[in-house]
Amino acid sequence: MSVLAMTSVSRDHGAGAGLVHALAEVSLEVRAGEFVAVMGPSGSGKSTLLTLAGGLDTPTSGQVVVEGADLGAMRAAARSALRRRSVGYVFQDLNLIPSLTAAENVMLPRELDGVRARRAREEAGRALQEVGVADLAARYPDEMSGGQQQRVAIARALVGDRRLVLADEPTGALDSHTGEDVMRMLRARCDAGAACLMVTHESRHAAWADRVVFLRDGRIVDATPGRPGPETLLQEAR
Ligand SMILES: Nc1ncnc2c1ncn2[C@@H]1O[C@H](COP(=O)(O)OP(=O)(O)O)[C@@H](O)[C@H]1O
Ligand SMILES: [Mg+2]
Repeated sequence: MSVLAMTSVSRDHGAGAGLVHALAEVSLEVRAGEFVAVMGPSGSGKSTLLTLAGGLDTPTSGQVVVEGADLGAMRAAARSALRRRSVGYVFQDLNLIPSLTAAENVMLPRELDGVRARRAREEAGRALQEVGVADLAARYPDEMSGGQQQRVAIARALVGDRRLVLADEPTGALDSHTGEDVMRMLRARCDAGAACLMVTHESRHAAWADRVVFLRDGRIVDATPGRPGPETLLQEAR
């Protein structure tokens, strides 16, 4: 089943001579268990693709369906609820809240979703452990290194078993060792059944994905074939 299905999605900015086609007629499907990398030059529409996939922005035209729900057909409140419950987002600039500790940052989306504080704290503890920073739960973002903040941002995206994980250059400011760890975490989450769409500049990180989609000027210009699906394997076995 596809967790994310985008059909002919376009996003324009501005008007007249200043019109920019940030994304043009992009169709993309990401299935449960699938890890898809997005590559392309600066300004090619990678971040736009992710914000539309996560319902943080609305397309000019086209359809975005997350876990069977058509985002464009939903009321704002229902869309927010779906986003909190199903979509984990790792922002390019992390967006941790400076006045909250690591644990509180990770708890926040769960509490907004009505999970009780005690349970949210337990879940946050597990998520922080999963990304290897359980000992930093009580620290504030400015008391952590860039790599540690990155791990907390990833924990916040993974908490509550979100089915769609969207990561915008999650290794942007990281040393290569932490970068590999981040890939391992995302890969593990996909192997556990999530769908993951990740923007990256680095081909060694894209190599962790099942499939790579290349964008240029808001369009998909190339895509590597996916891992053989069950049907293909069956046919080959015959
Ligand atoms: N809010 C906006 N207003 C006007 N233009 C925008 C806006 N957001 C993005 N764009 C333009 O859309 C194009 C794609 O941007 P973006 O998705 O951020 O690219 P990438 O993430 O690949 O660098 C760029 O030309 C960018 O300048
Ligand atoms: Mg970007």
